[in-house]
Amino acid sequence: MATFPRTEQFDTSLALLREGYHFISNRVRRYHSDAFRTRLLLQEATCVLGADAARMFYEPDRFTRQGALPPTTLRLLQDKGSVFTLDGAAHRDRKQMFLEMLTPPEQIAGLVAAFDEQWRASQRIWETREAIVLNDEMQPLLLRAVCQWADVPLTEASARRRTREINAMLTYAGVASLRVLGALLLRRRTERWCQRIIRAIRDRHIAPAPGTAAHTIAWRRDLDDALLDVDIAAVELVNILRPAVAIAWFVTFAALALHEHPAWRARLLAGDDGELTRFVQEVRRFYPFFPMTGGRALHEFAWRGEQVAPGSWVLLDLYGTDHDGRIWDDPDAFRPDRFLAWDGSAYDFIPQGGGDYLTGHRCPGETITIAIMKAATRHLLTAIDYDVPAQDLSIDLSRFPPLPASRFVMAHVRPAS
Ligand code: HEM
Repeated sequence: MATFPRTEQFDTSLALLREGYHFISNRVRRYHSDAFRTRLLLQEATCVLGADAARMFYEPDRFTRQGALPPTTLRLLQDKGSVFTLDGAAHRDRKQMFLEMLTPPEQIAGLVAAFDEQWRASQRIWETREAIVLNDEMQPLLLRAVCQWADVPLTEASARRRTREINAMLTYAGVASLRVLGALLLRRRTERWCQRIIRAIRDRHIAPAPGTAAHTIAWRRDLDDALLDVDIAAVELVNILRPAVAIAWFVTFAALALHEHPAWRARLLAGDDGELTRFVQEVRRFYPFFPMTGGRALHEFAWRGEQVAPGSWVLLDLYGTDHDGRIWDDPDAFRPDRFLAWDGSAYDFIPQGGGDYLTGHRCPGETITIAIMKAATRHLLTAIDYDVPAQDLSIDLSRFPPLPASRFVMAHVRPAS
């Protein structure tokens, strides 16, 4: 029986913190094996990378996400009781709710329209300022857009507070330090705010329009036909707001790509919608966001001649698969044209997870993410002109998730000439 190579050190947690996004791919290269065993956070783990590994990982009902992420990462991102922690029929039922909210074309068009409106309002303010930091501007802009679309009431004061809290959730999800405790406290505030909104809807103090995310989540019934617990409904509302704000990271990377590859500006201005789609797909492939996802085997199965026992912890390298030289020619080059030949496989391009949306944990917000990134890129190209002053644009790949150090400063934002 084949056995996967095993790392020499007793525990590789420090190496993971040091090497960040390259931790798994460095070892896959060293051992000439796209699976290896190690110990992380003092627990046995199997790390895997590549399309074959993704196919194994996303086999329906093979893995649970329970116990598969460090507890503070789970609390800051998906949280207990959320769709991410469910399995089997309960997961499918809850996931259906997300897919209904996030994937119909009219839902996507509605969010893009709210985003465009918020962009225009923000742009008027940017034009009065010497310089702006794009990532800092995009977060409240996206929060306002998603609340407008979801029919969640948002005052200016709560927009400021919620942006700060959601920023902490995203910034500290992959951090191992005491500062995580502060982020958890901030998250509690957003949760309590969402609980108040759910209660206000159920008490008929506010009445979001049918079909909006606030209405759908507040009135959703579980498989036992009971309304979702207020706590759970609030967690799922956060599960819409937080990741929508996270798109600010990809928008920042899209602006960086336009800056680093100016030839693409001209191509996109002259090109069609397909060209713009390929550009944002390459931004999602090339720049770092989610390094990996994890699962615990629900039952025993065999892969590559090895038995994987129930409860085994498997970590799939998302970033590494998106940079796998066996899939992507010259993977460290930014080349949107590579998507001309991409066959749409659910296993080789997995920045937001892979496999089937309904039966697995693949991100239900993927189409909405692409649509917002396209809208933002269009605005960066056609709505404004701006200067990019000298700044530190380096990306620290040992941070999860990283940004350019300067978070992308734009000076003299003005209407496009
Ligand atoms: C900003 C870009 C985004 C990235 C990089 C991202 C990434 C991911 C990843 C890696 C997963 C887990 C996949 C797995 O474990 O197999 C996930 C799941 C999820 N994402 Fe996203 N996501 C993004 C945007 C969004 C948006 C905009 C929404 C909703 C508005 C969203 C909602 C969710 C939910 C609810 C899940 C849990 C799905 C499940 O467990 O079945 N995400 N996302």
